[in-house]
Amino acid sequence: MDGDVAHWWDRNAEVWARHVRAGYDVYRNLYNNPAFFDFVGEISGKTVLDAGCGEGYNTRLLARQGARMTGVDLSEKMIAFARSEEERNPLGIRYEVASMSDLSVFPDESIDAVVSTMALMDCAGYEEAISEFWRVLRSDGLLAFNICHPCFTYSIRDWDYAESGEVRGVRLGCGYFEETVETERWWFGAAPLILADPYIYDRSGGLVPHAPALKANQKILKKNLAYAKSRKIPLMYMGGLDPAVKGADPEFCGRNAAMSAFATDGYWVFYEGPTYDKDHVDYFRWFTRANRAIVASDRSWHTWARVDLAAGFHDPERFGHLVLSGTPEMIGKLSDEFRKGGRTGPIVVFSPEGFARTTYMKLAADAFLQGENMLAQLRDESQREKSPATAAEIKRRLETYAAQLAQLKADASGPMDAAKWNRLNIAVQECLKRVGKVIAETRLQALLDNI
Ligand SMILES: C[S@@+](CC[C@H](N)C(=O)[O-])C[C@H]1O[C@@H](n2cnc3c(N)ncnc32)[C@H](O)[C@@H]1O
Repeated sequence: MDGDVAHWWDRNAEVWARHVRAGYDVYRNLYNNPAFFDFVGEISGKTVLDAGCGEGYNTRLLARQGARMTGVDLSEKMIAFARSEEERNPLGIRYEVASMSDLSVFPDESIDAVVSTMALMDCAGYEEAISEFWRVLRSDGLLAFNICHPCFTYSIRDWDYAESGEVRGVRLGCGYFEETVETERWWFGAAPLILADPYIYDRSGGLVPHAPALKANQKILKKNLAYAKSRKIPLMYMGGLDPAVKGADPEFCGRNAAMSAFATDGYWVFYEGPTYDKDHVDYFRWFTRANRAIVASDRSWHTWARVDLAAGFHDPERFGHLVLSGTPEMIGKLSDEFRKGGRTGPIVVFSPEGFARTTYMKLAADAFLQGENMLAQLRDESQREKSPATAAEIKRRLETYAAQLAQLKADASGPMDAAKWNRLNIAVQECLKRVGKVIAETRLQALLDNI
């Protein structure tokens, strides 16, 4: 029987740990624990056994109150979650895989308090468990437990109301006094509903540019969410990572994930197939960037606040390159569309081999070449300058920008990945923008001087 219980809790361990740690077990936090800890009283310095500790949420709370904690649980997976949290954030808790109905690893009268929260009703040998608690507890020890009462979980039929409308009691259905075994389903009402919405899954229209495709997806998403939101249902959206989907490319999928995360209460990506970070490295990188943007609340990453939507494409200054799937012929046909909005960055065709490191090196080399050309232009302009003071100022700025670009070039040496390339590219483009501004001002000055 213990084996069955362990099997079901092992299966539930991952979701249980995630939801409890996310705070979705609101009844625990608002009702059960305050009353339970109040009952347990002062615990600091005591040796305490948490019987059926699960992933250790309450064990950790008691350890933080100063108790010397040991947690036991039947489920190996629960104990694995508890131990990894202990490793991450040590509180001196010892965890053992054991049944509370066989505590032979603990000597007689070695424990000051046994606590057990929402576990004893699951224990197949509860009578043995109680006698084990008795054996391991010191003579002045404390046993504190709470359970789901079968009145409320199993055979409740009706509330009994007084005339005033107050609840007077509960009318139990037949079967309440029958001894039986039930597998109970736990679920936390506060946990987000997870939705998968195929309408925002891909890039409608195939290879339409990212910005309008994202806008279209956002519109669909908001419309579909309106009903749930109006009822205050917390939602997590789920999207697929599927390179075979129409119009999919790594960049679009990453930005779509960020857009969906901001429009909802979170976004989960599911991935079926080969290993995510090995077989689709570029998707992995773009989703990593999406996660960073989500964590940093950087909405500009997917909304492109500065994009000229009328021109239909994303900001060429911030995003130096574009990764696309699709055949070269198709991309050729659409290349005018991609150049809208003044975008001049290279178009890189996404291939199954992914972005080789050399691709980023090549992109960086192109950006520095562009920088050197602009500095040469500025040098030419400065030589035509008649005013010694203005010429000296241009020279000073030229030296500053040349030094900045040289520094960025030095930073660019070594391995290059998508994240590094994007950081670098933003810095290079900002520097080039400043150089461009000085060139324009110098030309204007020359024009004015000639008038
Ligand atoms: C509802 S969970 C509660 C976990 C934890 N006490 C908490 O409050 O978060 C019930 C736990 O009791 C454990 N359990 C059930 N029977 C057990 C037994 N005989 N010995 C030890 N643990 C048991 C299950 O594996 C499960 O982790």
